[in-house]
Amino acid sequence: MTMDAAARSLREAKHVVVFTGAGASAESGIPTFRDALTGLWERFDPAQLATPEAYRADPSLCWGWYEWRRRKVELAQPNDAHRAIADLVKHVPKLTVVTQNVDDLHERAGSLEVIHLHGSLNSPRCIDCGLTHTLALPFDTLPEGGARLEPPACSACNGSIRPGVVWFGEMLPEQAWNDALEAVEACDFFLSVGTSGMVYPAAELPLRALGNGATVVHVNQVRFDVSSREHFLEGSASRMLPTLLCRAFP
Ligand code: OAD
Repeated sequence: MTMDAAARSLREAKHVVVFTGAGASAESGIPTFRDALTGLWERFDPAQLATPEAYRADPSLCWGWYEWRRRKVELAQPNDAHRAIADLVKHVPKLTVVTQNVDDLHERAGSLEVIHLHGSLNSPRCIDCGLTHTLALPFDTLPEGGARLEPPACSACNGSIRPGVVWFGEMLPEQAWNDALEAVEACDFFLSVGTSGMVYPAAELPLRALGNGATVVHVNQVRFDVSSREHFLEGSASRMLPTLLCRAFP
């Protein structure tokens, strides 16, 4: 599918789902999960740090990594991909934004009601009693090479506080998953942006949309194989999304 054909299909859509992964925030300077880590965490695959086992085995290593990411997000700005997605709401009858990202860059670009399938860096909670906490970041600058940090204790039960994200092996938040499924089943245009499609169940969403007859378009800067019924636009999210919108809604 060419950019123009995707734009025509987007223009005719009644309900659009935009589904984003780490590639959507990469150009804001947030490393993707498949990028190699450096410094304190260089011996780790990010997927290894995103587990309950990693947190239990070495809480300060794991908590330090998430707090470092949280600070990185705080210092980052939304990019043109986030802005184009926020702008899309003005052009289509219905838009649902579903993200695997744990940052708030969609919201800061102006998208409202973003469905976060993998939680948020900004909602840490007690590992024992589940109480959510609002925590100020412990550093003003980004520690060079990363920093170990002891997780704070819960004010209610003294348990350890953990990041408010979904780790491998954990269930997705039920409400978010159900809302995403409902949108995916109703949509007629599904735009997947900057995701490797390797992590389930989120990676099922494009297939479900396809099964329901939606046009499915993947935007990624690295080409990968898609079925003959799906479409692929190769290029960076911050370049491809504004171009797609300009062509669809000149
Ligand atoms: P990944 O890091 O697996 O993949 C990022 C994708 O973005 C890759 O396919 C890149 O080619 C693409 N990409 C990178 N930069 C891009 C750019 N500027 N424009 C367009 N595409 C770009 O990230 P996710 O697919 O989001 O889960 O990973 C899914 C989940 O796995 C994450 O939510 C996280 C992770 O482990 C949990 O932590 C549970």
